[in-house]
Amino acid sequence: MNEIQETLARWYEARKRELPWRSEPTPYHVWLSEIILQQTRVNQGLEYFIRMVEKWPTLEDLSKASEEEVLKMWQGLGYYSRARNLHQCARQVVENHGGAFPKDYELLRKLKGIGDYTAAAIASIAFNLPYAVVDGNVYRVLSRLYDIDTPINSREGNKLFAQLAQDLLDKNHPGLHNQAVMEFGALQCIPQNPDCIQCPLQSHCLAFAHHTVENRPQKIKKLQVKTRYFNYLVIRTPDNGLYLRKRESNDIWKNLYDFPCVESMKPLSPEEIISSEYFKDLIHNQKFVIGRISTPYVHKLTHQTIIATFVEIKISCFLLTIKTKNIPLAFENELGTYPVPKLIDNYLTNNKH
Ligand code: ADE
Ligand code: SF4
Repeated sequence: MNEIQETLARWYEARKRELPWRSEPTPYHVWLSEIILQQTRVNQGLEYFIRMVEKWPTLEDLSKASEEEVLKMWQGLGYYSRARNLHQCARQVVENHGGAFPKDYELLRKLKGIGDYTAAAIASIAFNLPYAVVDGNVYRVLSRLYDIDTPINSREGNKLFAQLAQDLLDKNHPGLHNQAVMEFGALQCIPQNPDCIQCPLQSHCLAFAHHTVENRPQKIKKLQVKTRYFNYLVIRTPDNGLYLRKRESNDIWKNLYDFPCVESMKPLSPEEIISSEYFKDLIHNQKFVIGRISTPYVHKLTHQTIIATFVEIKISCFLLTIKTKNIPLAFENELGTYPVPKLIDNYLTNNKH
């Protein structure tokens, strides 16, 4: 073991957080926790992890769940394709590997939703195979230790950091080592103002020596995010039912529920919304009254910003025209059973009747 590996290992044993997937690192636990942690921090991820293993103690249990149940469980974490992949992966492992994750990097890599990172995490943490993980924490720690200014999101950076991580890997304890580097990045070598004075790796850290810590890692500026306007129609029946819409196209939030929606590239006035083809098609010749119009909700995703306005439309009869589409009528007490994006959940919470 070299000095950096040893320091990391000692630091990890002393400072690591006790977590259920660490005390019982079964392949199922490791996989589930790593997928969740790609989406959120440990604190919040822990709650989701506990709820999921309580509901689905084994991979086979999860494979038998419906996609909608899995999406519901994932609600609030965002990036719902991860939840769909998680579910499909469980089914693949049951169907193709007898319910046990394969003890082989290449086979793991072929499973739904498992990329280089997750395959390396499972291979090393669950099976002690010598594959280094590279996540945001690892990029930060390595770019600082070796004072590297190659952008981490460039093709060159990708290759370079993967190689450095593999070189630094303690091949005898790959699971411990990988977790130690990630934990070190999460707790000690943090993005803003790390406590370098107290750092056990300070004497090895080139960025510290060169006063470049705050400029590491380097990133290429990403493209302008696009803005979409969602003009939601919150159609209320006289008995306080609400029409939900299942999102089925290959867009954000696939298979989650929101409301019928007029989407636009710029803000629309209520008049513009009700004169749209979509609205006319939906409401036909029904009588309706415009109710409350919400202030805009700004919802930021990785590559797009959603600006949502909720327009209440009160109707006096049920909408016969949309019965055949995927637009169920839900009542206040049933709303909780539908998987909905965080944005919709926020709106519903603010507008309980
Ligand atoms: N972040 C994601 N996975 C992690 C792990 N196994 N240990 C520490 N931090 C993590
Ligand atoms: Fe990170 Fe600072 Fe430690 Fe270097 S000295 S590894 S920048 S915490």
